Amino acid sequence: PVLVVDYGAQYAQLIARRVREANVYSEIVPHTYTTEQLLAKNPAAIILSGGPSSVYAEGAPNVGADLFEAGIPVLGICYGFQAMAAALGGTVAETGSREYGATDVTLVGESRSILASTPAAQTTWMSHGDSVQSAPEGFDVLASSAGAPVAAFANEEKCLFGVQWHPEVKHSEFGQKVLENFLFNGAKLEKNWTATSILDEQVDRIKAQIGDAKVICGLSGGVDSAVAAALVQRAVGDQLTCVFVNHGLLRAGEAEQVELDFVASTGAKLYVANEQDRFLNALGGVSDPETKRKIIGREFIRAFEEAERAIMAEAASEGEEIKFLVQGTLYPDVVESGGGEGAANIKSHHNVGGLPEDLRFELVEPLRALFKDEVRAVGAELGLPPEIVGRQPFPGPGLGIRIVGEITGERLELLRKADAIARAELTAAGLDNEVWQMPVVLLADVRSVGVMGDGRTYGHPIVLRPVSSEDAMTADWSRLPYDLLAKISNRITNEVEGVNRVVLDVTSKPPGTIEWE
Ligand code: XMP
Repeated sequence: PVLVVDYGAQYAQLIARRVREANVYSEIVPHTYTTEQLLAKNPAAIILSGGPSSVYAEGAPNVGADLFEAGIPVLGICYGFQAMAAALGGTVAETGSREYGATDVTLVGESRSILASTPAAQTTWMSHGDSVQSAPEGFDVLASSAGAPVAAFANEEKCLFGVQWHPEVKHSEFGQKVLENFLFNGAKLEKNWTATSILDEQVDRIKAQIGDAKVICGLSGGVDSAVAAALVQRAVGDQLTCVFVNHGLLRAGEAEQVELDFVASTGAKLYVANEQDRFLNALGGVSDPETKRKIIGREFIRAFEEAERAIMAEAASEGEEIKFLVQGTLYPDVVESGGGEGAANIKSHHNVGGLPEDLRFELVEPLRALFKDEVRAVGAELGLPPEIVGRQPFPGPGLGIRIVGEITGERLELLRKADAIARAELTAAGLDNEVWQMPVVLLADVRSVGVMGDGRTYGHPIVLRPVSSEDAMTADWSRLPYDLLAKISNRITNEVEGVNRVVLDVTSKPPGTIEWE
């Protein structure tokens, strides 16, 4: 693999994703790894990420100079670049000229090395206080900026490179080119990480793990569980039974997507538990968001276990036993991060569609090495329909946390209609890819006065919350065209009885969260 050493900023995952987008497998390791531990992973190349420290600060993570003697191609980025410069005898200093955000960089000499095929002047994304003042011996300066006399350097002979800016961030115009120059010209790697190769490798692994045993998999309606199930189905066919607990909190058409489209495109065996009433009853009278989440999580586990028992009983009657349970864990959930720990628990994001803790089963986790975009690519490769593969993130507790106030069957119906209109118009405008997700929220406890025809109305507002984001950790409100907003507003107020206002949420995250509850 290409190892991305995480110095504790939020950039390591992005770097790993960009490397994989270039069709090269990459993994993240914490900066606490020693050179020996790094080399034990047999890296094809190493990328040192950015981080929040100053290389001279007390306790700053450092890079052992021995890493640069191991004959492995290394690219240092931002903090990694400075740490590399310092380790090899260059000078790094705080000059007081911080650069933050879009920054112009000028190439020194012709366009070459990791900056090959990029223009003499380019915009990059910077975030640094210290800067490299002089490059270590044997290194060529490739670029500089107003605040960084050495903004990029290379030692071709030893295959060591560095950039002060963040090539992994989209705001760096030629960032991906820089990474690819490093991977393919510098480190001379091959492109062999593709949807097909991932699929083949995972199918082989699953076969080896499961053998001829029986396995079950919960489907939530989301991308991850669908792709995980489809992979297992591809590997072991009818040894797999999928379980779909319909909690009645999905959006319009989503249960059908599982029950019809998923089954049609995979041929998987499906057990459906229709539990809409059970969830509505359990949620009666509750408006506190965290209580809602707890109830939904608890009922989900109970319903899933009941389904599980029914399936096990059937298997037992044929002398079979179920040994494995599929889980759609993704790479970002398992990555060993060098970043800070103890992030505040802002919402209890237990994943409904996630599963009981008491594991009588051995886990099968076919997505454990994958980022979300890779899951989608594998899903498409498996022939899952675009509506499933391209689905935007949707919270496990579903519409249950998009009704501010008590959940009732009528309110769910109303919200489903409004949400279906908003989604259809967004799709018709061709803007699905512009937004990360667009929660549509019913303010069930708020009413306002309106006028329709000759009459006064007293109805509920619907909130549109379209956001753009890379990972849901931070987000900005999407600047949707006014015409589109007008159309959505018009249709919702006309077609959804009980709604007389549509409002737009223009809060970024932080301070807002994406969902309202
Ligand atoms: P927030 O609202 O915290 O949401 O900005 C971040 C992302 O998480 C999703 N979300 C949830 N997902 N169970 C889930 O599985 C939950 O309880 C939950 N709450 C929020 C949200 O849709 C967004 O993608």
